[in-house]
Amino acid sequence: MKSHLKSAATLLPFFFLTSFYHLSLSASDSFVYGGCSQIKFDPTSSYQSDLNSIMASAANSASFSAYNNFTTNKSVYGLYQCRNNLPLSECSNCIQTSINQLRALCPNSCGGTIQLQECFLKYDNISFVGVLDTSLIYKRCSPEFSADSGFYERREEVFREIQQVGSNGFSVGSSGTIQGMAQCSGDLEPSDCSACLIQAVGRLRSLCASSVSGDIYLGKCYVRYSSDGFYSSPHGSSNDDGAGKTLAIIIGLLAGVALIIVFLSFLRQVCGKGGGK
Ligand SMILES: *[C@@H]1O[C@H](CO)[C@@H](O)[C@H](O)[C@H]1NC(C)=O
Ligand SMILES: *[C@@H]1O[C@H](CO)[C@@H](O)[C@H](O)[C@H]1NC(C)=O
Repeated sequence: MKSHLKSAATLLPFFFLTSFYHLSLSASDSFVYGGCSQIKFDPTSSYQSDLNSIMASAANSASFSAYNNFTTNKSVYGLYQCRNNLPLSECSNCIQTSINQLRALCPNSCGGTIQLQECFLKYDNISFVGVLDTSLIYKRCSPEFSADSGFYERREEVFREIQQVGSNGFSVGSSGTIQGMAQCSGDLEPSDCSACLIQAVGRLRSLCASSVSGDIYLGKCYVRYSSDGFYSSPHGSSNDDGAGKTLAIIIGLLAGVALIIVFLSFLRQVCGKGGGK
């Protein structure tokens, strides 16, 4: 553990140095956060093939569904969730990118989680499917504060609107120039989804104060609002080339390694037979 912290700490300057580039590349598959369990599986065990099978199922499913869950012999569990209004071709691309990044980020880890801008992917050897998780994983509040006297009122209108999610656990809303969106992981019951969103909105109020934009990612849901809009950045614009993508992935991985320090404590520390439960 000590040596993990040390090597991750040496990467922190890279994280801060590169986060600027990270933010400037508005690719739909840009990295938000990632984390791995500390416990590794034996690469010669059947865990690897079960995990491969989960990942193959997710990659396959994402071209026809925004959400799905999987298990292999109850040894590995996995699920993914794309932003629900994302075209399925983009969902499929996003999940493929997630799989590649998670493999690089969490080699031989019993559990791993990755959130890109447009999709979420998680696997573990302990079932987490259908389980509400409101732990705070990641927050981002803009450093600019709104000077608009009607800001709080309009943001509350947006919060009220986006908490009315449909059966797909997704919603968008707006008031004035403020836009918002909410997304639950598809495995949550509607009541658990509501409970998760209430927590997320409460954290936005308390943590982001009057920031002009804010994002809160909890274990099983996220809520975002912005006064600049989310959808203004063109998808697949001409600067979204291969080199840019590769850079984004490398930067994302570095950022991810740095974030593991923060995120490790959220993940279970056992993986394999006989632990947990
Ligand atoms: C998980 O997937 C199975 C099989 O497709 C499905 O029957 C089940 O409803 C799913 N569970 C949840 C919580 O989404
Ligand atoms: C998950 O895997 C780890 C490592 O192989 C193991 O120690 C743990 O017991 C496993 N947990 C379950 C529920 O199988």
